[in-house]
Amino acid sequence: MADLVIKQQDIIERILTMELVRVTERAAVAAAHLRGRGDEKAADQAAVDAMRRELNRLPIDGTIVIGEGERDEAPMLFIGERVGTMTGPKVDIAVDPLEGTTLCAKDMAGSVAVMAVAQAGALLNAPDVYMEKIAIGPGYPEGVVDLDMTPEENVRALAKAKGVTPGEITVLILDRERHQGLIDGCRRAGASVRMITDGDVAGVIYCAQTAISGVDMYMGTGGAPEGVLAAGALRCVGGQMQGRLVLDTPEKIERARSMGITDPKRKYTMKELANGDVIVCLTGVTDGPLVQGVKFGKDIINTDTLIYRSVTGTVRRIGAEHREMGKFRLD
Ligand code: FBP
Repeated sequence: MADLVIKQQDIIERILTMELVRVTERAAVAAAHLRGRGDEKAADQAAVDAMRRELNRLPIDGTIVIGEGERDEAPMLFIGERVGTMTGPKVDIAVDPLEGTTLCAKDMAGSVAVMAVAQAGALLNAPDVYMEKIAIGPGYPEGVVDLDMTPEENVRALAKAKGVTPGEITVLILDRERHQGLIDGCRRAGASVRMITDGDVAGVIYCAQTAISGVDMYMGTGGAPEGVLAAGALRCVGGQMQGRLVLDTPEKIERARSMGITDPKRKYTMKELANGDVIVCLTGVTDGPLVQGVKFGKDIINTDTLIYRSVTGTVRRIGAEHREMGKFRLD
């Protein structure tokens, strides 16, 4: 009987899970109206405005703890911004209203609207800086790969744990000049390196879908918000991840310190990036391997969303048909 009773906290989280879908759906639709127009800023701003508007309708007392803007960059959903009706549970929020702004501006595969919510104190509160990341999928011994190992060591260790040769390992890396050493190291070890132009939230998630994606490991430096968002999703589907903030100037170190980060070189585990009962919600803006992009029909708009919930490991896919939005083009 006790098992049949849904606790009050559970009800809040269950309802919230569905409510969050509306937030990323609206952000994705707003950005999609500007898809392929070559204007990254406009598309990003449209997603930010829609996400803020929807977040402020939720019965939560929310704080943006990591996202793409600092307080002085007012139009963005800034770190420290309070959102919601302030009537519900205290929650931490990580946002990337438009992950892959360039992908959206060029109507290329893989741009999404994404956010994560967890109880207050559960998500890493950090400035909008870069983060070094390494991630693999589920089923490996804890600590088999590590940020402090060389790319060669990581490839070999993962190959051994998988029971294959390094030549059968595929590493996903953002195509950036700063990653040349990493790319060379992986190739020296015999691995195949697959490059992406943008979108490392999905890049990390691909590691947990090796049978479909062919990706074994994600390595490289990308945005810190994307690191927290990816860690939340990976906690749900299984895998390992480490992240380390790139605090390479006195200003960044000071900014991080003001947020409670005393060790600028700290290596965070997946759970330290996104702890507790994390819900990650991701809606496609352009078509991609994880989700379909927004489709504009006659008087109807279609969206495709994935919702990850870490505590149960449930991943829901919600394909929605929006007739109101399609009719009045509110976004
Ligand atoms: P944006 O949506 O902010 O453009 O981020 C896209 C992205 O590719 C992320 O997935 C990644 O973490 C980051 O940019 C890498 O940063 P940079 O483009 O500066 O190398």
